[in-house]
Amino acid sequence: MSGYRIPFNKPGLAGNELAYIADAIQRGHSAGDGCYTAQCQDLLQRDLGCPRAFLTTSCTHALEMCAFLLDIQPGDEVIVPSFTFVSTVNAFVLRGAKPVFIDVRPDTLNLDERLLKGLLTPRTKAILPVHYAGVGCEMDAIASVAGRYGVKVVEDNAHGLFARYRGKYLGTFGQLATQSFHETKNVSCGEGGALIINDPIYVERAEIIREKGTNRSRFYRGEVDKYTWVDLGSSFLPSDLLAAFLWAQLEKYEEIRTTRHRIWQTYAEGLSEWAGNAGVSLPYIPPHVEQSYHMFYLMMPSLTARSRLIQHLKARGILAVFHYVPLHLSDMGMRFGGRAGACPITESVSDRIVRLPFYNDLSPDQQAEVIETIRTFRC
Ligand SMILES: Cc1ncc(COP(=O)(O)O)c(C=O)c1O
Repeated sequence: MSGYRIPFNKPGLAGNELAYIADAIQRGHSAGDGCYTAQCQDLLQRDLGCPRAFLTTSCTHALEMCAFLLDIQPGDEVIVPSFTFVSTVNAFVLRGAKPVFIDVRPDTLNLDERLLKGLLTPRTKAILPVHYAGVGCEMDAIASVAGRYGVKVVEDNAHGLFARYRGKYLGTFGQLATQSFHETKNVSCGEGGALIINDPIYVERAEIIREKGTNRSRFYRGEVDKYTWVDLGSSFLPSDLLAAFLWAQLEKYEEIRTTRHRIWQTYAEGLSEWAGNAGVSLPYIPPHVEQSYHMFYLMMPSLTARSRLIQHLKARGILAVFHYVPLHLSDMGMRFGGRAGACPITESVSDRIVRLPFYNDLSPDQQAEVIETIRTFRC
């Protein structure tokens, strides 16, 4: 959105994006699965320690691939937080699944694992934890319930690349996980994502689904003498030009993380006294979790206070935003039986959350201005 001196988000450049794109063009491979795609996938596999990572055109598409891989059929149920982006659930509804909305914990805004048992039925196929703001869900409890009931876990880790839960990377707990490289994410290429496969049984089929349902990848490797239609699928692989852009960011992910850590810490320190006096909560990070520093939010005491704060910032040229209209109260969610009061924490936080400007190039002066402007606000 333009017209703000301090926008909410500004896609950052890590430095080598144009050089790598030019190189990809010169190599004459601009379709998918060129050398930059391979480099990005290798880095994800090596650093996360997962058996296989596939770049995709978006996190949304990676989630759609998960629904294919789990063979979701009409009437299957998936347990999904109501407080998430629409793609977490739409990807499964596209295959006929019925979403079962679960409320979030009031502290981390992650799926409340204590509610899982009450929502599982013989039709439950998958639990979809979303690591909100790159702060890990309670994966021990989730994995234990899923294991006991024979249900798969797909982590939507759009926000949490290289964050950890009890020392282990997010995205490496579920059988499958997804990442986003959308321009609002810590590491981005405009639009992009990745499918992380932790159970190798899914690798072969994922390769086919990502290549329009064909065994083209096997053909390129010389394993078959022609390629053909062998399964369902779509075009889920990104151009190598996008992968070249992404590589420029991924190779600097530690620097990006350091920058974002500083921004997050500066907000936390600069706003804690004001928040305490104003009845505002700051994000809670459990001690056993290392977050990704994806976002900084304020939990205001009321909807009115939230609207007034956003207006106060806007009048001074600063854009702050809110998000996630509860999915169970959306038009689609209500068609699946969603009703007011079903997820009370989600309904409350969705009215009160404000996300502050947060991007790699947010300068210390700009951030000081955001903090000072908030400090002059009275709830
Ligand atoms: C939790 C979550 N999941 C999925 C997505 C979709 O990501 P993408 O835009 O890469 O498809 C988003 C987008 O912001 C998100 O916040």
